[in-house]
Amino acid sequence: MKGILEVIPRIIVHGGAWKIAEEEHAGHMAGVRAAAEAGRAILAAGGSALDAVERAVIVMEDDPAFDAGVGSVFNRAGDIEMDAIIMDGRTLKLGAVAAVRGITNPVRLARMLFDDTDHSLLVGEGARRFAEEKGMRLCAQAELTVPREIERFLRLQKMPDYRLSYEFTPDPQGTVGAVAIDAEGHVAAATSTGGVAYKMPGRVGDSPLVGSGAYADDLSGAASATGHGESIMRVVLCKMATDAVARGLRAQQAADLAIRTMFERTGGYGGLILVDRQGQVAFAYNTPHMTVAWTGEDGSIHARIKA
Ligand code: GLY
Repeated sequence: MKGILEVIPRIIVHGGAWKIAEEEHAGHMAGVRAAAEAGRAILAAGGSALDAVERAVIVMEDDPAFDAGVGSVFNRAGDIEMDAIIMDGRTLKLGAVAAVRGITNPVRLARMLFDDTDHSLLVGEGARRFAEEKGMRLCAQAELTVPREIERFLRLQKMPDYRLSYEFTPDPQGTVGAVAIDAEGHVAAATSTGGVAYKMPGRVGDSPLVGSGAYADDLSGAASATGHGESIMRVVLCKMATDAVARGLRAQQAADLAIRTMFERTGGYGGLILVDRQGQVAFAYNTPHMTVAWTGEDGSIHARIKA
């Protein structure tokens, strides 16, 4: 804190919480650093937390290392369907899209819904049609496809008894997210994902669900989640964490409590990033790795892939 009302702008981003293969660590670390840097630059220029989290997530959607935008996983029909959300802690307004195909930046579409409509969540063909109406560039699935995910899809196709939990920890994935506080003390959160590998067509995870994949409230803080969506949504993970902050817990205590509660109640794995209204940042996870990057109080960028 610089003063009673003046807050040091901060951002923290994540690139997913899974068991990330050793050879992918460098790429994931570079990706989250670049995202935090992009968000930091917006905050340093006096920009809003909302713009900072959107920009940071776009950087990771464009990075094929992550399961979001370019690099998203395939569902079991061989299609890419993506989910994203953005939320403003000042007004509690949000925009979210689910099971959307054929665009590179779902969080940008979520932001357009936020800015230009009275709605909060658009799905599937309606979301894609909205993108077209807004002049967003539509792309072929090939543009979102990376060899890593073709290999994974072909491998999973040969596993008749495959279940989501079986694939859950051993394979690298990377739902991405960002939370920030700006100089005016407003917080925001954004999350984007291709979802979990080999999901059913039409499956929607936690990411676009308010309170589960992200939450932002100036009265408490902002959070973004990653991990097993079916577990995260059962405990409404991000709202649980920001409610804990509102009850007086420190950011780190709140993040730890949310992840511990999710595991105790559902057996689920994942991670969470959090910024509170005082500008304290925190992250917690119960997976082997979680890639995070954040700005220190001096504006320098820190990054980590495991504890
Ligand atoms: N957490 C991302 C998903 O389950 O879709």
